[in-house]
Amino acid sequence: MLTDGPFYMVPAPICAGFIYLVRERQGNMIQNRILITSALPYINGIKHLGNLAGSMLPADVYARYQRARGREVLFICATDEHGTPAELAALGEGLPVADYCEKWWGVQKKLSDGFGLSFDHFGRSSSAQNRELTQHFAKVLWENGHIEERTTRQVFSKAEARFLPDRYVIGTCPHCGYDRAGGDQCENCTRVLDPADLKSPRSALSGSSEIEFRDSKHLFLKQSGFSDELRAWINSKVEWPQLVSSIALKWLDEGLQDRGITRDLSWGVPVNAETWGRNPQGQRPDVEGLKGKVFYVWFDAPIEYIGATREWAEAATGSNARDWKSWWVGEEAQAKVRYVQFMGKDNVPFHTVGFPVTMLGSGEKWKLVDQIKGFNWLNYYSGKFSTSQKRGVFMDTALEILPPDFWRWYLTANAPESSDASFTWQHFSDTVNKDLADVLGNFVNRTLKFTQGKWGSVIPEGGKLGPKETKLTDELERRFGLYSAFLEDIQLRKAAAELRAIWVLGNEYLADAAPWTAIRTDKDAAAVSVRVAINLIRLFAILSSPVIPFSAKAMADSLGLAPDELQWPKGKIAGEISVLKPGRTFEVPPVLFAKIPPEQVIAWEARFGGAPA
Ligand code: 2FM
Ligand code: ZN
Repeated sequence: MLTDGPFYMVPAPICAGFIYLVRERQGNMIQNRILITSALPYINGIKHLGNLAGSMLPADVYARYQRARGREVLFICATDEHGTPAELAALGEGLPVADYCEKWWGVQKKLSDGFGLSFDHFGRSSSAQNRELTQHFAKVLWENGHIEERTTRQVFSKAEARFLPDRYVIGTCPHCGYDRAGGDQCENCTRVLDPADLKSPRSALSGSSEIEFRDSKHLFLKQSGFSDELRAWINSKVEWPQLVSSIALKWLDEGLQDRGITRDLSWGVPVNAETWGRNPQGQRPDVEGLKGKVFYVWFDAPIEYIGATREWAEAATGSNARDWKSWWVGEEAQAKVRYVQFMGKDNVPFHTVGFPVTMLGSGEKWKLVDQIKGFNWLNYYSGKFSTSQKRGVFMDTALEILPPDFWRWYLTANAPESSDASFTWQHFSDTVNKDLADVLGNFVNRTLKFTQGKWGSVIPEGGKLGPKETKLTDELERRFGLYSAFLEDIQLRKAAAELRAIWVLGNEYLADAAPWTAIRTDKDAAAVSVRVAINLIRLFAILSSPVIPFSAKAMADSLGLAPDELQWPKGKIAGEISVLKPGRTFEVPPVLFAKIPPEQVIAWEARFGGAPA
């Protein structure tokens, strides 16, 4: 049903109807290189499961799937290192901010490896490559007339004797009345704000309302001039999820504001206006007035998607040369790269307006995003996961208490796609116990144990495929089509439901064939069914690998599968149940998924909080 190669509308049968997957064709060219970026995690602190579920993990599932399909994939992520939170956290730890960032980049890298996040490169927004690119964009935007200088009133906190960045000014949102809205964005209604918009402003650092506005020269990105172009572009993206398009269009409908892109801070990419030429009005920038300022973190962070690609390219050694430009800029990138971004819904405005304006305004042929997969929130019980309040489960503790695939499965099967989702320990343990232990783990274990007990650790010969196997492969074919289609379309909950249904087919087949009964009267019939079941373990290892790669590898290893035996199915699924022939040996793996006992749920609820009173 799905073909490798060109991106175009593909009908996928779904029950009585069809879903249509939009794949793209640019002129006569085929977009067969897939660039994937996950929203960059802030450097400060360990990320919680909500962060993981809303960008990095789904991006990884998609990257692994696309690689399995044999497509050329570049999967990029990095730490988002600039801004005041990093500065303040470094202060709190008594470290120079650069050292602080290096240390926490290492921690985040180790944790992302622990979860099997298969980034081709995990970069750092403070890299030299990003500095150079950010400065490049600013220069060309100025010279093209898309940046202008304004003298702004900045919030100065007398208590802290410093300018306060937008997000460290809090107050009441003028749109929805939320009383802890940040000066950059209201987390309640997601509207982007300026500190001057807030009612009753105060310092988030000290709570002091002894604040004043002082004059300071700043640069503004003239986003308003791009309204029509952005609207036409967003409207052309018929395949974007409604969540994403509606946030993007809401922004345009409210009237695009020009955006301040510099800050009075010391940590960040320095504004180097001395290297800029004249703008179209013949003016030079106010080099003196802009001295000592840095770019706003939201200006340089998305540019780090490109910066990290350049870091990746420049890390290559010897004959292994890598070309970052062919992914990002020029005719070839436009024609051959399909660019997919993953992010939480609060990030959508910056990726549908700010970053596109940066690219378009440069007048250079930068590759704009093709598909944006946005996510709602994963909540912890009925409240938010919170880094600052240490509420919920964090990536480090998650890995201390359970293997990564438990989390990967739960967070994929319950991805907050069409609405916010809620994590509870009971729901988590019910899900992994049922899906992983009872359905998949049990199938693998009882198949291999039974075979070993009756024939030794070898796939038995004898018997022929019959109607039971035809019924199985017909149903597998249908479910496999849907599974692939949902992954292609990045509908993760639906994909996980199909994968689970595929595992269930294995159990149903075994229950129907009942080799433990058949062996008493018809050893050949029993041999056929365990041979098919062992082949299903191979198939399940392949199909499960994007979602639960560690367990998929354990399954593949137990059968001693070589890489060429782990190819994503290309032809009819019927062929997949006879790949492993009689005589081949296997090992029974240790229990794949230990069940979480009820007392453990109670212990975790007590330890992590959030249990109902
Ligand atoms: O919201 C966040 O966690 C940001 N650090 C995401 C940045 S995404 C990109 F633009 F860099
Ligand atoms: Zn609001």
